[in-house]
Amino acid sequence: MSDTHRRELELLEIDHVAIAVRDLDAAVSWYEQALGATVAHRERVEGDGVEEVLLRVADSYVQLLTPTGEDSPVARYLARRGEGIHHVGYRVNDCAAAIESMRDAGATLIDDVPRPGSRGTTVAFVHPRSSFGTLIELVQEASR
Ligand code: CO
Repeated sequence: MSDTHRRELELLEIDHVAIAVRDLDAAVSWYEQALGATVAHRERVEGDGVEEVLLRVADSYVQLLTPTGEDSPVARYLARRGEGIHHVGYRVNDCAAAIESMRDAGATLIDDVPRPGSRGTTVAFVHPRSSFGTLIELVQEASR
């Protein structure tokens, strides 16, 4: 057990809960009308094959996520599982340190090193097979 690494991993906030949808505009309209949600950000992330909208919920977000093409991992997810919760993003101080800490704890990392996420964040994904079926994203905010 590495106590030095463990201390680096502090969960600051739920950064976002990501929900996979087939029709992004329809989903955004529904969240605006039914929940009074407001759009904080919209971005196409070509590398991940997704377009996302962040709806502000206090200091966190709900992220509506749709594939940009048939070969997108989210397209495969929708085909296999249908619409619904896709992953949970946890906000951390230091994504690289969080990766090390989780690796020490036996987690299976999808990203061995931090990589760029949307809106200037730094992120890494943890495989659902080591986290009881939920895809986890570690999110470090852009330094302000
Ligand atoms: Co995410």
